[in-house]
Amino acid sequence: EKGGHDYFMLKEIAEQPQAVADTLLGRLTEAGDIVLDEVRLTDQDLRDVDKVFIVACGTSYHAGMVAKYAIEHWTRLPCEVELASEFRYRDPVLDRSTLIIAISQSGETMDTLMAIRHAKEQKARVLAICNANGSTIPRESDAVLYTHAGPEIAVASTKAFLTQLAACYLVGLHLAHVRGIKYADEVAAVVAQLQAMPGKVEQVLETMEPVRELARQIADSRSVLFIGRHVGFPVALEGALKLKELAYMHAEGFAAGELKHGPIALIDKGTPVVCVVPSPAGRGVMHDKVVSNIQEVRARGARTIVIAEEGDVAVEPYADHLIRVPRTPTVLAPLVTVVPLQVLACEIAAARGNDVDQPRNLAKSVTVE
Ligand code: M6R
Repeated sequence: EKGGHDYFMLKEIAEQPQAVADTLLGRLTEAGDIVLDEVRLTDQDLRDVDKVFIVACGTSYHAGMVAKYAIEHWTRLPCEVELASEFRYRDPVLDRSTLIIAISQSGETMDTLMAIRHAKEQKARVLAICNANGSTIPRESDAVLYTHAGPEIAVASTKAFLTQLAACYLVGLHLAHVRGIKYADEVAAVVAQLQAMPGKVEQVLETMEPVRELARQIADSRSVLFIGRHVGFPVALEGALKLKELAYMHAEGFAAGELKHGPIALIDKGTPVVCVVPSPAGRGVMHDKVVSNIQEVRARGARTIVIAEEGDVAVEPYADHLIRVPRTPTVLAPLVTVVPLQVLACEIAAARGNDVDQPRNLAKSVTVE
């Protein structure tokens, strides 16, 4: 049942290219339109939206953080991302022109469900991105876009996360499409690039052997830090969450620019720091800043584990370990950069003798608030 893999988690990591392809299937037309048939909000409803809130927990929240960058950039709509467990307690300003996007693999997470119930009481429209057909969150939403990851058994979410990213991109592109867009050329290009992503995820999976070796080398570390900028920031948070859940190690993700405001004090001789480097193409300034951050942590003794695009030579002098990912437009990069972090966490947990699929103290769906 694990398809020849030692753990469900490894099986599900391996299924990611297919899961992403299945989630995109039939939803992107050659003409560059996006077909979202399960979305029962009319185009007019979507044109009336003046603000987007994304609510979710855990890994799904990290997908939401990535979605914020895509949605704001493509649609110019203000978009906030909020932990579902915090949302209703601060009395958010909502009305019928607010679009809530609730992201949940299980569709049963109580915190997320309570957030959408609160939003509906204030007349906001709710669109669910969900992996479990007919579960409670999609049933209570105005519209649903299902991710087609198939059943996810391992407690640590992997393939569901990649499909949530794919679904979020589709929603962003759809919103941009119906609302009339500022970046029409760019959006059309993204549609084509999105279709190439399953192949790129496959390419990453083919090069994971050095990551397994690295996992064995750092399995006894006291703490592992993760840094990233822009969409690399939620990827850093996700890498740290995977490591906490599976390896029971102290792990923290930071926005790379925040390091100098405090966290850099944590760095000691040999502290592993995983650095998610943005593409040098497009937003070169951001890339150069992250390269400086890598230099800074290394100068303080960090052991740098660098995730960078093929052909990015600028990182080479500062990388103790270099993990290459295929060239990808910035906003789509999380689909490839998160994969080595999933493998790293899984292999560190295995090296420490932990139960990879059923980590202690955790449940697959959290149905209490
Ligand atoms: O089913 P959901 O997507 O609503 O679950 C949300 C979180 O509980 C979930 O992502 C959790 O953080 C995972 N164990 C992460 O690997």
